Amino acid sequence: MIQIQELNKSFITKKNKKSSVLKNINLEVNAGEIFGIIGKSGAGKSTLIKCLNLLEQPDSGSIVIDGVDITRVTKRELRLMRQQIGVIFQGFNLLNSKTVYDNIALPLVLQGHYSRDEINARVNSLLELVGLTAFAKKYPRSLSGGQKQRVGIARALANNPKILLSDEATSALDPQTTNSILELLLDINRQFGITVILITHEIEVIRKICDRVAVIDNGSIIECGNTVNVILHPQHELTRKLIIEEETTRYLEGVSSFYKFEKNNDNHLILISFLGVQTFEPVLSTISRDSGVIFSVLRGELGRVKHTPFGQLLVEIKGSQAQLAHCFETLNSFNLHYEVIY
Ligand SMILES: Nc1ncnc2c1ncn2[C@@H]1O[C@H](COP(=O)(O)OP(=O)(O)O)[C@@H](O)[C@H]1O
Ligand SMILES: [Mg+2]
Repeated sequence: MIQIQELNKSFITKKNKKSSVLKNINLEVNAGEIFGIIGKSGAGKSTLIKCLNLLEQPDSGSIVIDGVDITRVTKRELRLMRQQIGVIFQGFNLLNSKTVYDNIALPLVLQGHYSRDEINARVNSLLELVGLTAFAKKYPRSLSGGQKQRVGIARALANNPKILLSDEATSALDPQTTNSILELLLDINRQFGITVILITHEIEVIRKICDRVAVIDNGSIIECGNTVNVILHPQHELTRKLIIEEETTRYLEGVSSFYKFEKNNDNHLILISFLGVQTFEPVLSTISRDSGVIFSVLRGELGRVKHTPFGQLLVEIKGSQAQLAHCFETLNSFNLHYEVIY
């Protein structure tokens, strides 16, 4: 549905130097999928998403949406094209002087050719979709972050777009609210078949709803694949850092007041990932019994990668060199994926 080819974008810095922000980006997004793009701050994510609706004009390359290269269309065609693309942002970008209803109605009013009844019907169905019917007459300032983002989503869907772009839409929200917004996006994707391109620096967001993911670093795509494969078998060292080490480091920092991992000769910190039926196997007790290592579970999580059961355990194992070696043999024999973090 969307083919990005050899896309380049640079900015001229204050010192009049050219700084390349997107370098030869090639990506293909299929119709109806939720496609994630993950990368650190400053990697070029927002610039990439702005190129997708030509808020930024690429230096070179093509962006083909449904067969049309949007970098080569007329202004009028571009306007029509943009109606096919809804966008939601981290900061919500609502108009504070307008009610929830009027914020959602705005894109329809701007079109200029809808009757009041048509707008009313559309806005009411969107309010219902995002669960804000009772808030129609409220103003954004009286809403929570999650509710504001729901208004943002409803407004982005007003023109019935084929594509929804999300730039860190959940980054300002707490984990619970993030979940409910991700559920809503998943629901919208399923119900209407809208293609979603979602940009984030959080692997959790990718894991929960993305079918495929691309990793962007310093303006280049360094890895792209099915979410499960990329999370379990990151090919690039930077990907591994981004999705495994950073998560772990952040977690260990969080618990550092009552637990400190110290690397010695007789221990390792490992992250074991379980997928599908493996999620329910007694891996740890088998390893401990067979190899004699002892372990402490530092963090455990059962969830899903999209629809597949998925578990992750962060475990400190302790034992002699021989026991540790045996432990890794047993882990290997289970054919599951693990990463030795330290
Ligand atoms: N309009 C602009 N002018 C100059 N530099 C910019 C502009 N927009 C972004 N940049 C630079 O491009 C790089 C990538 O920015 P951005 O796409 O916002 O990254 P991300 O969204 O991944 O954090 C940054 O170094 C940023 O400073
Ligand atoms: Mg950004």
